[in-house]
Amino acid sequence: MVSGVSDSTDARGFGVYVHWPFCLAKCPYCDFNSHVRDAIDQKRWRQALLTELAHYAGETGGRTVTSLFFGGGTPSLMDPETVAAVIDAVHGHWRAAPDLEITLEANPTSSEAGRFRAFREAGVNRVSIGVQALDDRMLQFLGRKHSAAEALRALEIGGTTFDRMSFDLIYARPGQSLRQWQAELERALALSGGHLSLYQLTIEPGTVFEQRVARGDFQLPPEHDQAVLFDWTAERLEQAGLPGYEISNHARPGEESRHNLTYWRYGDYVGVGPGAHGRLTLDGHKLATRQHRAPEAWLENVERAGHATRQRLEVEPDARLSEMVMMGLRLAEGIPASRFRSETGMTTEAALDPVRLRRLIEGGFLTLSEDRLTATPAGRARLDAVLGALLA
Ligand SMILES: C[S@@+](CC[C@H](N)C(=O)[O-])C[C@H]1O[C@@H](n2cnc3c(N)ncnc32)[C@H](O)[C@@H]1O
Ligand code: SF4
Repeated sequence: MVSGVSDSTDARGFGVYVHWPFCLAKCPYCDFNSHVRDAIDQKRWRQALLTELAHYAGETGGRTVTSLFFGGGTPSLMDPETVAAVIDAVHGHWRAAPDLEITLEANPTSSEAGRFRAFREAGVNRVSIGVQALDDRMLQFLGRKHSAAEALRALEIGGTTFDRMSFDLIYARPGQSLRQWQAELERALALSGGHLSLYQLTIEPGTVFEQRVARGDFQLPPEHDQAVLFDWTAERLEQAGLPGYEISNHARPGEESRHNLTYWRYGDYVGVGPGAHGRLTLDGHKLATRQHRAPEAWLENVERAGHATRQRLEVEPDARLSEMVMMGLRLAEGIPASRFRSETGMTTEAALDPVRLRRLIEGGFLTLSEDRLTATPAGRARLDAVLGALLA
């Protein structure tokens, strides 16, 4: 967001998120709301997604949708007909921005040329492929069902089928040296379509990897080594013309994910499907919505009540400030002063504790200008600690 440009909620974009909760297998590191099922009644799911979409459109129908995101789970397992029906419904319920971004997350195991073509014909114009690693041993360690050759094939088809493409890699894996990561990232850059999501492996509660780490099977690289990989990654991507616009996301200018920018700018979005979250500003109040998480409970609720909203709460002023700060400091652009005013009714200095703020600025982790509050690269590299020190 350029200084002087409006930072109203609408200027931050208005997104629609659709969650598809099924995968062919559960990856051992993943704590997303994803489930394996023998059979899925696609027609029934299609109807339920359309029903819940209509429910939320009832409250937000006058707005202009700037992005639609099919996330998961593995949305590339959806019937292209279902994707088409959701896209048509979005066009029917809301005005669509002329450059409406429609992203679908795809797994290399369901990325056949015919499927991708059908998604494009349905209106998808951006694909985000879960490559994770470019060598077979690592893919096996990560429990992925695809080979490196299949990932390359998915990237080739993705690149020729869609206007825009991104892919995900997981790094800072056990035993991964800087030299190995450098070689892998060079290959990734050569294959990149202008956007890369590079995540450091995290051990999430409740996952198989958590049990394996507890058993002593493997451990993550020490924090210092992780930081070396992170810093080198940021430098190399910047040099390659894809600066990190967010902690884990790198893009050629203009190729940023508009949908995710709306989240990080604390804009509004509708979330439909199991476990989906939404944030809606209605009459100046910010509402947090969350749908039933279990696929079957979600389906039954939608069929019975027209939606499966599990939680709908107003975000209280303190939480509104901390959500906005937690999201906004992830971005290289930081948080404009005008957003502090519109979200909290206060200036940046008045909204935050001055002593904590000063300490973090003097430590080189934050900068504050008349215009905006920004985390420095050093601050973004250890954002959890910075947020703890700023907001606790
Ligand atoms: C919903 S998944 C993407 C699409 C698709 N399900 C797939 O995996 O191919 C989102 C991304 O989050 C990343 N991710 C998930 N769990 C992670 C973890 N524990 N550590 C690091 N990255 C993780 C992966 O890169 C994954 O592609
Ligand atoms: S990483 Fe992707 S494919 Fe693997 S379980 Fe999670 S959502 Fe499913």
